[in-house]
Amino acid sequence: MKPPPPPLFYLLFLLSATVISAATTLNATKPTTPKTPASSPTPAPTSSPTSPTTKAPPSSSPLDPKQLEALQSLNIPTTRDPCVQPSPRNATICDNSKPLRHLISLHLSNCSSDLFLSFNALKSLSSLRSLSFTNCHVSPIRFPSDLSLSLTSFSCIQSLRRLSGVWLSRFVNLTDLTVTYTPVSASGVYVILGNMHKLKTLTISHANLTGSLPRHLHLNLTHIDLSDNKLKGKITTSLTLLQDLEFLNLSSNGLNGEIPTEFGDLISLKNLSLASNSLSGSIPDSMSAIPGLVHVDLSNNQLNGTVPKFLAELKGLKVLNLENNGLHGVLPFNASFIKRLAVFKFGGNSNLCYNHSVLSSKLKLGVARCDKHGLPVSPPPSKESSADSQSDSSDYSDEGDTSNKKESHHGPSKVVLGFAIGISSIVFLIVFLILLAKWCR
Ligand SMILES: *[C@@H]1O[C@H](CO)[C@@H](O)[C@H](O)[C@H]1NC(C)=O
Ligand SMILES: *[C@@H]1O[C@H](CO)[C@@H](O)[C@H](O)[C@H]1NC(C)=O
Ligand SMILES: *[C@@H]1O[C@H](CO)[C@@H](O)[C@H](O)[C@H]1NC(C)=O
Ligand SMILES: *[C@@H]1O[C@H](CO)[C@@H](O)[C@H](O)[C@H]1NC(C)=O
Ligand SMILES: *[C@@H]1O[C@H](CO)[C@@H](O)[C@H](O)[C@H]1NC(C)=O
Ligand SMILES: *[C@@H]1O[C@H](CO)[C@@H](O)[C@H](O)[C@H]1NC(C)=O
Ligand SMILES: *[C@@H]1O[C@H](CO)[C@@H](O)[C@H](O)[C@H]1NC(C)=O
Ligand SMILES: *[C@@H]1O[C@H](CO)[C@@H](O)[C@H](O)[C@H]1NC(C)=O
Ligand SMILES: *[C@@H]1O[C@H](CO)[C@@H](O)[C@H](O)[C@H]1NC(C)=O
Ligand SMILES: *[C@@H]1O[C@H](CO)[C@@H](O)[C@H](O)[C@H]1NC(C)=O
Ligand SMILES: *[C@@H]1O[C@H](CO)[C@@H](O)[C@H](O)[C@H]1NC(C)=O
Repeated sequence: MKPPPPPLFYLLFLLSATVISAATTLNATKPTTPKTPASSPTPAPTSSPTSPTTKAPPSSSPLDPKQLEALQSLNIPTTRDPCVQPSPRNATICDNSKPLRHLISLHLSNCSSDLFLSFNALKSLSSLRSLSFTNCHVSPIRFPSDLSLSLTSFSCIQSLRRLSGVWLSRFVNLTDLTVTYTPVSASGVYVILGNMHKLKTLTISHANLTGSLPRHLHLNLTHIDLSDNKLKGKITTSLTLLQDLEFLNLSSNGLNGEIPTEFGDLISLKNLSLASNSLSGSIPDSMSAIPGLVHVDLSNNQLNGTVPKFLAELKGLKVLNLENNGLHGVLPFNASFIKRLAVFKFGGNSNLCYNHSVLSSKLKLGVARCDKHGLPVSPPPSKESSADSQSDSSDYSDEGDTSNKKESHHGPSKVVLGFAIGISSIVFLIVFLILLAKWCR
């Protein structure tokens, strides 16, 4: 017999090469996303003598030279017309007035440490409606009152070093106020909000704000985030009067007392977090009147009583976190409700249990099974002990397969690995057989 014909070797070579390249390309899919060059800004047709293009707004008038000068003093590049959109880093937006245009929005970000916000520069920017700072550690500044009154939106994210409540309270025409990761000193929230009668969205978070919640709040508020501060005292009933409020986050403060029974008056509420406070008492049944709840986080408090049944009737609920409280009794939920939730957490409530003829132990609820009196039979199974839960579940008829959420994560990579191993085994087998055939001759 002759040695195996060359084509067979080629075939083998090709096969192994395919396997190797398949393995590497699959591994490398992430980092090799085609890097498109940063979309080069198209040069602005500043003064084209041709007929005005239909797309461009009637915006041929230039920016007020005083404002141009102010921008230069704030290190905003002005080699391009700051009124052409999108501006560099989206920092500037102008109005369309004539004969000179004016800035209505300014966003300063990543400022150099030597930036100086001069009073005169700010005075010439009194046309601004929106002003925001991100990561600008410049010194606190005196604002001209024209500018303070003109602003409807003010945002300060990790900027301006430190703010006082009195300083913020001068922005009386604001509809949106955001201060995060910047310490705010005030003896209470009311100092800041007292004169802001148009406010719709309020965020003062991660700001070490002290004091208590205000007795009066503007009724048109739709968004309140006062999370991660040092607020103390009770949740005031003034809060429950806000019928347009959709978002409330008071998490990580020192609030105590009970959740007011009038809480259900917040009929527009969608997202609620009162997590990580010292709230006690039970979850008020009045909350059943809030139809649109999507996200409910009451974790890490001292709430007691049973888990209210109405929660199971909330059609839009996606996140329910009640962990680390003092809740007791039987979880009033069935499997179809639990499966609908993206996040459910009930652990850390030592007297809470689930009815094993209604819920499967595969759901990993973090609470123990109930005995026939509705009391937990054993300490809640630790999340790692899957063997435990499997032997547990075999005793009872489980409805459907509910435990495949986790496994699916690691599925693809295992399949690829198996495939690669399989193919390479076949290649080795073929090579081995050929060598064997050669040897035996
Ligand atoms: C291949 O994947 C493994 C595990 O996912 C990773 O540790 C390794 O860095 C990857 N190699 C390459 C070249 O991407
Ligand atoms: C600028 O704003 C536009 C529209 O708001 C947005 O699509 C774009 O991503 C922004 N660019 C930058 C760099 O922020
Ligand atoms: C500011 O700096 C951060 C981190 O260096 C960067 O991710 C971000 O894109 C910068 N923002 C602007 C508007 O340049
Ligand atoms: C802001 O409010 C003041 C009084 O509170 C009012 O006189 C002024 O016209 C308002 N400014 C703007 C630009 O709306
Ligand atoms: C709040 O206070 C803590 C401790 O006093 C400090 O570590 C933290 O940086 C402060 N937060 C801000 C935003 O200043
Ligand atoms: C509050 O909202 C109502 C209805 O949306 C509106 O009629 C009213 O003018 C608003 N009040 C203020 C002070 O913005
Ligand atoms: C509430 O605020 C905290 C801290 O700022 C944040 O981690 C959490 O996701 C927020 N919750 C909601 C419901 O927005
Ligand atoms: C729940 O807590 C409240 C306030 O701490 C207390 O008055 C009440 O007795 C407690 N109820 C139960 C059932 O433990
Ligand atoms: C409200 O909660 C839902 C579900 O967790 C989330 O997808 C959404 O982004 C939240 N909305 C806001 C404004 O944070
Ligand atoms: C689960 O509970 C919900 C609400 O309580 C109910 O509408 C639904 O019919 C129940 N599903 C099953 C399978 O019992
Ligand atoms: C568990 O559910 C079954 C069927 O719905 C019911 O008969 C039983 O009383 C429940 N057990 C407890 C402790 O609630």
